[in-house]
Amino acid sequence: MKIEKRDWFFIALVVTILAIFIAISGKEKTKPVPNNATHKQVYEIAYKNAPAADASLFKKAFFRPAKKDAEKFCEPCHAQNNIKLPPNHPPKHRCLFCHKLVK
Ligand code: HEC
Ligand code: HEC
Repeated sequence: MKIEKRDWFFIALVVTILAIFIAISGKEKTKPVPNNATHKQVYEIAYKNAPAADASLFKKAFFRPAKKDAEKFCEPCHAQNNIKLPPNHPPKHRCLFCHKLVK
């Protein structure tokens, strides 16, 4: 089979899309919220309405952690513990969009 100009265009397109995909997925390296004693309360607040283990699949699928409620506590406690953001930290409203809860 002879590869024609049109085919090369298609191949280039596929390669570009793959490259973008890899570039984006590599960005997921922001530190998650540590699942430790200090951050226990964050997890408790975020998952306060979590469906029980025996809840329907439907309920589980649509459950979203209460991120906004939990985020209120990040900065006050970090301030108390003198935890500073790195100088190049991105805009910081909505901590949990970037710093994922691990569970
Ligand atoms: C009760 C206090 C407290 C609250 C609330 C809290 N933090 Fe922290 N955080 C700490 C302390 C203390 C550390 C230092 C490391 C440790 O003890 O885990 C820390 C460290 C971190 C780190 C750095 C982890 C690392 O590996 O270096 C991140 C990211 C973080 N917190 C995110 C958050 C986010 C996001 C929230 C809110 C959803 C939050 N924290 C709420 C006390 C708190
Ligand atoms: C737009 C995304 C974004 C948001 C929103 C955000 N962060 Fe970050 N944060 C980052 C990135 C990127 C870094 C640097 C890479 C890393 O170490 O995770 C960082 C680093 C940190 C660190 C230092 C981690 C270390 O290396 O010890 C702390 C603590 C932290 N963020 C807390 C917070 C808190 C608290 C909030 C909410 C008030 C917040 N961040 C909101 C993206 C974000």
